[in-house]
Amino acid sequence: MDWMLTEEQKELQQMIAKFGKNEVLKRAQECDRTGEFPTDLYNKALEMGLHMIDLPEKFGGGGFDPVTAVIVQEELAKYDAGFSVSLFASGLAAKPLLIAGTDRQIQMFTDILAQGKMAAFCLTEPQAGSDAGASQTAAVRDGGGYVLNGRKCFITTGGMADVYVVFAMTDKSKGVKGMSAFIVERGAPGVSVGKEEDKMGIRLSNTTDVVFEDVRVPAENLIGAEGEGFKLAMKTLDMARPSCGAAAVGICQAAIDLCRDYALQRKTFGRPIAVNQAIQFKLADMEIATETSRQYVRYVAGLIKAGKPHSTEAAVAKAYASDSAVKVTQEAVQIFGGYGYSREYPVEKLYRDAKIFQIFEGTNEIQRMVIAGNVLKQKA
Ligand code: CAA
Repeated sequence: MDWMLTEEQKELQQMIAKFGKNEVLKRAQECDRTGEFPTDLYNKALEMGLHMIDLPEKFGGGGFDPVTAVIVQEELAKYDAGFSVSLFASGLAAKPLLIAGTDRQIQMFTDILAQGKMAAFCLTEPQAGSDAGASQTAAVRDGGGYVLNGRKCFITTGGMADVYVVFAMTDKSKGVKGMSAFIVERGAPGVSVGKEEDKMGIRLSNTTDVVFEDVRVPAENLIGAEGEGFKLAMKTLDMARPSCGAAAVGICQAAIDLCRDYALQRKTFGRPIAVNQAIQFKLADMEIATETSRQYVRYVAGLIKAGKPHSTEAAVAKAYASDSAVKVTQEAVQIFGGYGYSREYPVEKLYRDAKIFQIFEGTNEIQRMVIAGNVLKQKA
């Protein structure tokens, strides 16, 4: 389906493929195993501006549209999904600002990113994951600003980011309508990074708690109006979920590429295993799942680009692509047989990396709640 890509998108894809093959892939397996954090690799990607690729040009971003952004995210995820997700975490954090922030706020935020620094989106808490509205982090008005107290968890790039977008309750009595969003700089007194997760997969990404203790935040750092935070978080996730799906597609493609090569060279009973219909049907099902996910993800990115409603579609893209990634990588392990289960070979890493995509940015159960809720509202 590459004929649908513009020349610019193809060039960008090739540039990412070169970086991915020559730099990311070489380090990914080793860092996955040892837990070493590839700071140098991140620095290169930040120098290339990959963390700002989908931010508007007028604020110093790459200015690429959502379709191009998912193409880039997919390509990068082929080499390492955790690396890809981390680089796009800054764009996720920027979305509430792009939706409801002032030009001054966006500029302040992107000026930080332009220095090769990262941002993180802080919504989840120990007791508020799927039930995002149950957040306990409080922002209490105090003079000309707010004082924040609370703990966020499972924050992608929590320990790497220099600026956070934090969701906190300004009025708990109003439930989800009492949530507000703030820009908080890492250097503000009272901000600290808590425990880092030792994860099953996407081990090249950094996932931590972020703690706020009596953090003073000026009123001008409030994004949008007080009480708009929950809707802002939901709209942000609607825009980000196709991107999550795109990274899952990248994992699927990596699995297919490895399985194709392996099936053609691995012999059993004197013949390559690729001649067996059992293997061919697995490869065919992997291709069906991958290509349908890819095209649907790009379709939803197109809806966002066109300014069309996309809440249900974003949930479909995220759930379908991530369910596909788990199925595809599970089959990849099966095709590789005993070698698939060995850490010497790359497919078990893909399987571990794929699993998180069914969990973060809203579990696939939450996606199904969103989809079903919207289906039930439709009129015949
Ligand atoms: N867009 C705009 N408004 C929305 C909305 C959307 N998509 N979804 C809900 N709202 C509005 C509703 O209209 C409602 O407002 P009104 O009363 O004015 O109509 C208000 O928000 C409350 O809506 P609900 O009653 O539906 O809210 P709820 O408490 O029942 O929760 C939910 C709904 C869909 C389950 C939500 O809590 C949710 O999405 N949970 C999952 C959270 C999530 O995805 N977390 C991921 C964290 S980020 C992450 O993982 C990133 C990372 O680091 C990789």
